[in-house]
Amino acid sequence: MKFFIDTANIEDIREANALGILAGVTTNPSLVAKEGVSFHERLKEITAEVEGSVSAEVISEDAEGMIEEGKELAAIAPNITVKVPMTMEGLKAVKAFSDLNIKTNVTLIFSANQALLAARAGATYVSPFLGRLDDIGQNGMELVAQIAQIFDTHAIETEIIAASIRHPIHVTEAATYGAHIATVPFKVLSQLVKHPLTDQGIKKFLADWNDSQK
Ligand code: E4P
Repeated sequence: MKFFIDTANIEDIREANALGILAGVTTNPSLVAKEGVSFHERLKEITAEVEGSVSAEVISEDAEGMIEEGKELAAIAPNITVKVPMTMEGLKAVKAFSDLNIKTNVTLIFSANQALLAARAGATYVSPFLGRLDDIGQNGMELVAQIAQIFDTHAIETEIIAASIRHPIHVTEAATYGAHIATVPFKVLSQLVKHPLTDQGIKKFLADWNDSQK
């Protein structure tokens, strides 16, 4: 499983990229709004920083508008992936982008059928939102496992991005159940690095070393 970072914050993206583990970035309108910057300018900065896929979401609700917006976004850099919501109009746009060889990430996936439809329309990625399902008392991880099984059974090449990740257990389970990618907020990425026994071990090694030098 590969790692994407789920943010539009350029400092966090640079920090994550320096770790050598970053395969891509996902943004959404809420994440961009939080930054208070121009969307296109920020996408230029991100695509200059990160080689992998950078998802940029369209806000139009009709296929025609999505296609127009998506073409403009895709013109920013070759590694832009157009993020499209899972609707009838979204599927039409995904098909058009697929014909134009523009990569797509179908977002707001909450059922296996939605993922299958998105894949058949030509999506490069599908993003099941685990945390938001957990929030309403459904098991988000079961959805990832189900989609992974369906894609495997039917030899579908669309990649599964485990999204709406809230904590490290989501990451471990997404990897276990067959997500190709986890898109994680910077906070969760930091939590993945840390372990109290690692910190304790470093402290002890350092203390023993310093004692031996007296
Ligand atoms: C994914 O592409 C989305 O940007 C993201 O994971 C949404 O997560 P949230 O439910 O924490 O907003």
